[in-house]
Amino acid sequence: MTTHKIALLDGDGIGPEIMAEAVKVLELVAERNDIEFQLESGAFGASAYFSHGHAFPDETKALCDSADAILKGPIGLSHEESKKIPVDMQPERGALLPLRRRYDTFANFRPVYLPKEIAHFSPLKPEIIGDGVDFIIIRELVGGLYFGKKETGVNDAGRRYVNESLEYDEDQIERIARVAFETAQKRKGVLHNIHKSNVLKSSVLWNEVMEEVGAEFPDVEIKHILVDAAATYLCLNPGQFDVMVMENMFGDILSDQGGGILGSLGLMPSACMGPDKAYYEPSHGSAPDIAGQKIANPYSMIGSVAMMLEMSFGMDTEARNVWQAMQSVFGQGYSTPDLSKPGSDVRMISTDGFGDLVVEELRKL
Ligand code: IPM
Ligand code: MG
Repeated sequence: MTTHKIALLDGDGIGPEIMAEAVKVLELVAERNDIEFQLESGAFGASAYFSHGHAFPDETKALCDSADAILKGPIGLSHEESKKIPVDMQPERGALLPLRRRYDTFANFRPVYLPKEIAHFSPLKPEIIGDGVDFIIIRELVGGLYFGKKETGVNDAGRRYVNESLEYDEDQIERIARVAFETAQKRKGVLHNIHKSNVLKSSVLWNEVMEEVGAEFPDVEIKHILVDAAATYLCLNPGQFDVMVMENMFGDILSDQGGGILGSLGLMPSACMGPDKAYYEPSHGSAPDIAGQKIANPYSMIGSVAMMLEMSFGMDTEARNVWQAMQSVFGQGYSTPDLSKPGSDVRMISTDGFGDLVVEELRKL
């Protein structure tokens, strides 16, 4: 029997509640396949800072180093609570970015997937949404402004200033380009390259390398779109996109817009792939305002499990089954209070109620 060790990092806020539902799905998948998932939890995020004095404690680093894959919940605190933690130990700077850097998880896959069962969650008009949308944002995750040089100080005129650099070298662009072209090749053969080359030199180099790598993929058509225009098209005609590739900061912003198209970031799972290790996480924050109330939908966490099954363990069929099980729960009219207002046509259930129904549907597949 194959054993896969998975590090579970619950994170903060709603993290532990939605992680518990993801674990139920992993347990069922293990039960009916010739596979064992060795699940081990580690402290991570603001909660880890309070319990261990560090947002990414050494024990958790060792656990992640030894794991075959990492499943991570959302991290972060309310603005007020964050102030209790020193700036460099706040969970984004103290845990999440170091996790990305440690495993060089340069390729971030963020599916914006709206099948007909959840099309009603979208704020866009039905004539724009049509039969739903299904595209994927590929975001470069370990370069650009996030990881460039940073400097703050007081200038000669006595004024405070800041300087942060957007850095990429051609190898960094080339590897994400390759991932994007390969993904487009497996899908519809169209790649939208998002850039700002009318202003940023970084985009000029980015586009040059995209074209060079594109020459190796004659079956993929590359379309260059300025990032601001792409933001507009995402609202006016999201159906035109299939695979989009972009640098780190653009990807942060446009992927949240993707969540807006779906109606909630709670419908956005993701995969962060490095050369040797991958971690999987919801694209959203820890929603401290609704933590502990069992009203958060675990879709993004369970969707991250589906991505892990496919991308880390090659279990494509089970991955598809997990997606299908979630859609069929929505298809029966069930929803959770974070996604839906109480109304006659919604069968309102809790976080764990949703997880239980997903497991029940999954058993049938
Ligand atoms: C995301 C998040 C993170 C990011 C934050 C929490 C640092 O917004 O994964 O999109 O900006 O990358
Ligand atoms: Mg973000």
